[in-house]
Amino acid sequence: MDCLQGWPEQVVRVQALSDSGLMTIPDVYVKPPAERPSIGNGGAVTSDIPVIELGGLAEGAAECRATIRAVADACSEWGFFQVVNHGVSPDLVARVREVWRAFFHLPMEEKQAYANDPKTYEGYGSRLGVDKGAILDWGDYFFLHLLPESIKNQNKWPALPSSCRETVQEYADELAKLCGTLMKVLSISLGLDAEQLQTAFGGDAVGACLRVNYYPRCPQPELTLGLSAHSDPGGLTILLADDCVRGLQVRRGDDWVTVQPIPGAFIVNIGDQIQVLSNAVYRSVEHRVVVNAAQERLSLAFFYNPRSDVAIAPVSKLVTAERPQLYRPMTFDEYRLHIRKKGPKGKSQVESLKAQC
Ligand code: OGA
Ligand code: NI
Repeated sequence: MDCLQGWPEQVVRVQALSDSGLMTIPDVYVKPPAERPSIGNGGAVTSDIPVIELGGLAEGAAECRATIRAVADACSEWGFFQVVNHGVSPDLVARVREVWRAFFHLPMEEKQAYANDPKTYEGYGSRLGVDKGAILDWGDYFFLHLLPESIKNQNKWPALPSSCRETVQEYADELAKLCGTLMKVLSISLGLDAEQLQTAFGGDAVGACLRVNYYPRCPQPELTLGLSAHSDPGGLTILLADDCVRGLQVRRGDDWVTVQPIPGAFIVNIGDQIQVLSNAVYRSVEHRVVVNAAQERLSLAFFYNPRSDVAIAPVSKLVTAERPQLYRPMTFDEYRLHIRKKGPKGKSQVESLKAQC
């Protein structure tokens, strides 16, 4: 794992570049023409990802079934949906946003104290992947392990200010609870026992991480991306998108659909581990982030992952004569090394598991 010992090039904070007021972005952020966003052809795609009212789960049996069916349809049609009435307090959501906005607005020297390295990725970072000469994304981030507790303690959770730690812990507890509910819904919707997906994830010892994305203003947004096209390597992602600025785009056939976040909603998407467990009944869908010249953008991505040392393979009930096993087993520890070394690369990794099966 030598290549994960350090960054291959000097780290440049995108925020510092943006604040310098430059008019032309450095070549290292300029994407090849095929990957650039087509800003300005707005309105070409008018559809949006489904919205699901989670309150239905607590109502009568009919409402509960209808909600589970809506999740199943959203997962197979889009791989993405927004949830409203999800039970997480608006006050907590506002506080966690505020805590992280304040962090990114600290003086650069203070943020540098949290600079991360590619071994754990924990802390303040500005690139994903360690390939020398790679084209980079227009964004900084802060990455944290939240679960299991043992990892958090072992990695000595970066010494964030205690006000920040408490809010982040409260947020993590609430989001882990929401993910537990969604795991049950997904399990039932796949025709499995309610607990089956969670058990396959390793029961109580599941993992969770938080990636807070900060996309500074960009003078040439048409040439770059805040985050390149990728599928999320983990299980489930719960995204708290910026409350004012759009930027997330989801792959829909050959198009990219820009998501319009509903105030108070979370955006949920299926990651590669659920694609594998479900034997591709549900698929992790590619997404990317576009940036803009007028406003910065902040998002919090909470990743709910399998326990890192259990082999993840298609659930036997979903492997049939008509649908043979599509993926070979792999632990999440091994799986996540790919994005940590190569950076975001579309759906190449989950596809490669197939080729090896
Ligand atoms: C991610 C991600 C989307 C966003 O962090 O994996 O896809 O809107 N983020 O920042
Ligand atoms: Ni993502």
